[in-house]
Amino acid sequence: MAGKALGRYFYFTPLVLIAFLLAQLPELEAASPLYRNSVASESPRAVLEASKILRRGGSAADAAIVAALVAGGTSPTSSGIGGGGFLLGFDSKKQDTFVLDFRETAPAGLDASVFEERPLGVERSGHLVGVPGELRGLQALHQRAGRLPFSELVEPARRAAADGFATSRHLHNMLVWAEKKVKTVPGLASIYFSGGRPAAVGARLKNPGLARSLKKVRDDGVDAFYQGPIAAAFVAQARAHGSPMELSDLKNYQVKTRQPLCTNFAQHRVCTMPPPSAGGLMLMELLQLFQPEELRSLGHDSSAYQHLIAEGMRGAIADRLRYLGDPDFQTVDTKGLLDPQRMSLRRSMISATRTHGLPSFGLEEHGTHHLATSDSDGNIVSLTTTVNRLFGAKLNVEEYGIIQNDELDDFTPQKVMTAFGMSRSPNRPRPGARPISSMTPTIIFREGQARYALGGSGGMTIATNVSQVVLNLLAFSMNPQEAVSADRIYIPTQQETVRIEKGADEQLAKELRARGEVVGRQKFSTTAVQVVSAQAAGAPSAADPRKFGGAWSDE
Ligand code: GLY
Repeated sequence: MAGKALGRYFYFTPLVLIAFLLAQLPELEAASPLYRNSVASESPRAVLEASKILRRGGSAADAAIVAALVAGGTSPTSSGIGGGGFLLGFDSKKQDTFVLDFRETAPAGLDASVFEERPLGVERSGHLVGVPGELRGLQALHQRAGRLPFSELVEPARRAAADGFATSRHLHNMLVWAEKKVKTVPGLASIYFSGGRPAAVGARLKNPGLARSLKKVRDDGVDAFYQGPIAAAFVAQARAHGSPMELSDLKNYQVKTRQPLCTNFAQHRVCTMPPPSAGGLMLMELLQLFQPEELRSLGHDSSAYQHLIAEGMRGAIADRLRYLGDPDFQTVDTKGLLDPQRMSLRRSMISATRTHGLPSFGLEEHGTHHLATSDSDGNIVSLTTTVNRLFGAKLNVEEYGIIQNDELDDFTPQKVMTAFGMSRSPNRPRPGARPISSMTPTIIFREGQARYALGGSGGMTIATNVSQVVLNLLAFSMNPQEAVSADRIYIPTQQETVRIEKGADEQLAKELRARGEVVGRQKFSTTAVQVVSAQAAGAPSAADPRKFGGAWSDE
């Protein structure tokens, strides 16, 4: 009897099971996840800690906060609580794309005349230190989209600073590169050059001062940074190097919310950072100058394509210099700049065989860190953070392990404007103003769902890099890893009109020259783009091999 029943069971089971599954198909499909937890960052340790938070049920915002704080300690050349940044977030439930501007700000007592005397020696480098916005920005993100307690999000970074973290390849490379300048900064040699040499890849480093600051922030909240002993030490350090910063500058620091810039391109909606970012506007210009079909037909690796976008980028850089300043101090007519008629006139000026020069200007930065996160509810964060140059102003608040930014160096010197025939820059130093930035945090949507979050690091190359990766994803249908790894062009601000990658084919250089370009090679790259691919069915998220970052997505 039992055998008979068993036989019937085995006989019927496959058919019954198939019928059952077919009946359930719509439900099964609906139940398969649309979105996934994911993170991409230049700091492998930041990826690890953010992935743990996502696994514990943290939101994309929680993961971004963890990643930014961990990266600030493990990748101190590029970002930290002594700096600031921008972010774009998407709240899937509210279908809301939001922008947080936590850029460093000029102190109320800023002396603009000093900025014409750059470069400033170390004794006056405090003038370049902006009032830091990093922690206020992360606090604002948490208030808006956080799920876990803020103190829990600070702890992984505190632990990394207290117990130690492995030196990443990128950090090692930067220590080798900047050894002479950084070794002499009080408090940095003992952490990063113990034994007199740059820390080797994998060497364990500790930063007890930073651990002390983060413990205070964990226990007493973000106010512990902006008031009290940490704020006093920060201000004293800047003032000792000429800054007019006061305690009131820190106390009064405010995060600003802004409206994103958005456009449609190749059946996607691309949203990015508005001024005081110039990067977002530069990306928007490029997407409005060209049609995806036109670019696709030229072929990604062709000199025709590379020249076309180089021309578009040079136009965008010139617009940046002529028209962009802090929108709270200066009318910035983004709508007018992106007006379709204006863009079509510019497009008509771009020819396959002619190259427009760009008046030389000196804006060179090497710091900055981009990270992106997504969660299984379809929320997404794209965050770029910076202390400007490597190790910022190279001023270290030793007791608290805080590297001070030199973000105010992003204000444009007057001599640059002379080349443009302008008497003053819209991006001139002013008390309380935020300097224009290249940072380009971006989110790409398809049919109302967040599909990708991306952005990059590398000063003036950020916007041009992010623009090329957006085109790789949307016009050339590359997956994220292909999109970030593909060769790029760079638009230098002096001497050459374009630079190609170190290993790029000489034939490309030859053909670009025939189009009027003055071609150089990008010998050394501190630029990188990270892409989070938020949809569960999409290709994995990707980190740029140029800075040895990492990416992780839930299985
Ligand atoms: N300091 C880098 C940037 O904001 O573009």
